[in-house]
Amino acid sequence: MHFFKYRAGELYAEEVSVKKLAIKYGTPLYIYSYNTLLRHFRAYADAFKDYPHIICFAIKSNSNTAILRLFAKNSGGADIVSGGELYVALKAGITPKKIVYAGVGKTEDEIKFALRSKILMFNVESGDELLEIDRVAGKIKTKAPVALRINPDIDPETHPYIATGLRKHKFGISIEEALEYYKLASRLKNIKVIGVHKHIGSQITKVSPFVDALKKVLLLIDELNIQGVEIKYLDIGGGLGISYRDEEPPVPEDLARNLIPLLEGRKFTLILEPGRSIVGNAGILVTKTLYLKKTGEKEFIIVDAGMNDLMRPSFYGAYHHLLPVVRKKRSTVLCDVVGPICESGDFLAKGRELKRTKQGEYLAVMSAGAYGFSMSSNYNSRPRAAEVMVKGREHFLIRERETYDDLIKNEQIPAFLK
Ligand code: LLP
Repeated sequence: MHFFKYRAGELYAEEVSVKKLAIKYGTPLYIYSYNTLLRHFRAYADAFKDYPHIICFAIKSNSNTAILRLFAKNSGGADIVSGGELYVALKAGITPKKIVYAGVGKTEDEIKFALRSKILMFNVESGDELLEIDRVAGKIKTKAPVALRINPDIDPETHPYIATGLRKHKFGISIEEALEYYKLASRLKNIKVIGVHKHIGSQITKVSPFVDALKKVLLLIDELNIQGVEIKYLDIGGGLGISYRDEEPPVPEDLARNLIPLLEGRKFTLILEPGRSIVGNAGILVTKTLYLKKTGEKEFIIVDAGMNDLMRPSFYGAYHHLLPVVRKKRSTVLCDVVGPICESGDFLAKGRELKRTKQGEYLAVMSAGAYGFSMSSNYNSRPRAAEVMVKGREHFLIRERETYDDLIKNEQIPAFLK
């Protein structure tokens, strides 16, 4: 469910015409719907309301501070994977006590920053990292709260690049070795074991991988209890899918209905790390048709958004709906929708049947709110897009379009070349 709908043939973001926004702010333009974001966030809060929990939004999916502030105001926390994400989370007003920190390559500086900020816990991904956190915590005379990220060897049945919970992946500590590492953690002076973490992948469209993974992790927790290790926080990660094309993924309520009964009689605080399922369908990318081109049998629509603005189609072969911002009675065309980047892999859609569009008309790339702007880059020296939030009839610029000056602001020409 989202609030991007046609009214008399024109696409609206809540109560605001998308075309008007495209004209006002220029394109490519990310537009987010406040009420969709809130609704998706609340769907989690409502579904899990009977079990103590924290919704730690996965910042990697969208790190705009206005969006994070919205979640902070609704008691949301954050799942972070870098010092930069910690900085952004704190700036957005997320309480450190609701921040969990995963990622396989935390540096000493990042660990220090997180310890000094007093985050809720580190989700530790290896034995070496555990020892490093112990060392750094000792150095600054504090104790580090940790969960071990367990790799439960469960197939999330998703795109191979976004599956994480199989033995062959770089993430987490294998479930067979977990006990050993928990024993090690309990012996370390500057480590305080408080949790278990797992995250098996992203864009998961069934409940069963979540159920299977949780069952495995609960068996581990039983074993830990016998060994005298007490687990307060059970972090089940994120990964719930969304509908990009015709998927019918479970909703947070389905997750809750299937997972909470497994927790009966156990007193954890549950941590959830949703990203995509909150922001994915709450954002669109608007782009303008620049040129139409026919080569041999192939037709191309060349638009002003490229793989630097939305990487998902190029990188994962991901499908995103493309809708005309103003609907017209036109014939359809089988085409590739491509960007201005000098790469053959620069496309938003391949072999897509679309209504014919004309130069200067706008297209909306749907479901672009997650891993859209956050994965964008300056490739081909392209300033990154602007971001706008719509709330009812109002709209707010939440990130200015970058300028050409921004492109080189951190660069220096050495004296000998001057
Ligand atoms: N927690 C951890 C530890 C994660 O690694 C991730 C995502 C999440 C939570 C949030 O997962 P979500 O609820 O958004 O599925 N760039 C890819 C997705 C990469 C996901 C990485 N980890 C894409 O565009 O599909």
